[in-house]
Amino acid sequence: MKTVRVAVTGAAGQVAYAMLGRLASGEIFGPDTKVILHLLEITPALPALEGTAMELDDCGFPTLGGIVMTDDPMKAMDGVNFALLVGAFPRKAGMERKDLLEKNAEIFVGQGKALAAKAASDVRILVVGNPCNTNCLIAYSNGRDIPAERWTAMTRLDHNRARSALAKKAGVGNEAVTCVTIWGNHSNTQFPDFTNAKINGKPATDAITDRAWLETEFVPMIQTRGAAVIKARGASSAMSAANGALDHVKSLVTPTPAGDWISAATISKGEYGIPAGMVFGYPCTSDGQGNLTIVEGLSHDEFGKAKLAATLKELQEEREAVKPMLPE
Ligand code: NAD
Ligand code: LMR
Repeated sequence: MKTVRVAVTGAAGQVAYAMLGRLASGEIFGPDTKVILHLLEITPALPALEGTAMELDDCGFPTLGGIVMTDDPMKAMDGVNFALLVGAFPRKAGMERKDLLEKNAEIFVGQGKALAAKAASDVRILVVGNPCNTNCLIAYSNGRDIPAERWTAMTRLDHNRARSALAKKAGVGNEAVTCVTIWGNHSNTQFPDFTNAKINGKPATDAITDRAWLETEFVPMIQTRGAAVIKARGASSAMSAANGALDHVKSLVTPTPAGDWISAATISKGEYGIPAGMVFGYPCTSDGQGNLTIVEGLSHDEFGKAKLAATLKELQEEREAVKPMLPE
């Protein structure tokens, strides 16, 4: 039996609740790997976390190797191979994700430092807590002993949303839609790229010829889907968010099928003209060993170029707002 240690922050929250059973069940790392969960919460939430841990025990998963519960980031990150940084305050109706910047940024300074000090040498990090691209930038900037390519922020939920919306419009199953990309920020400036997407292996624009629908309905629908879920549920997405994070981890440990790619925000080295050091959503492939490679050589029409410029501008503004938290 192998063992993998997985840190989940915000472990008593609603996204974590939808995530932890699946992480412990063997679904993500397989039946031959024991998962030791490192659960981080703030002190007042530790009693609720006890309840979640009781439920995990009561599932009787053969693959659950242990549970560490703590309010100390240094203890939580000790020896972890994966860190899923979920813990942060979610937005409420009427807020944009960047409104959370001030409230949540400080969390990621401490967790970046704790990861650099304590995590296993092969650690891979996914930031889910919003605004996730900029929180990832903060954690990475405070945890530079960990190589840049190990840090990611979550655009996989948007990717899954885009895939499902295109499938519905074309009247095909979700599996027929490939090569979807979420470019840029996990926010309402993201560019859900239909121009490079495929349906049954052919350009999605062959199957969906209504360009006006793609530009004026599909794109805004994906950009604002999080807010629509908040309006409908009275709380931000949890099941689909947990699923997106788990899809991301599964993709890290499984090679991406040939001819397709996934969406993930990674630290730019200048690809597609994005300044190096930005945490930007890109199309990526995985080697199944935890390494993502940005897919190069895609092109954008004038519509796409304008969308990329808008989301880059927003990320630059967010970066400016947290500059004091970004050590050089
Ligand atoms: P929630 O309020 O239910 O849970 C958040 C938990 O984080 C709480 O239990 C809180 O006590 C904990 N927490 C706060 N500060 C912490 C800290 N310093 N260390 C550890 N834990 C801490 O919220 P939720 O619905 O689970 O959402 C969590 C985050 O995920 C939010 O920021 C939300 O916006 C974000 N989110 C992102 C995506 C995405 O696609 N990137 C999708 C859904 C939700
Ligand atoms: C989402 O996209 O559902 C999450 O980021 C939560 C939010 O604030 O929209």
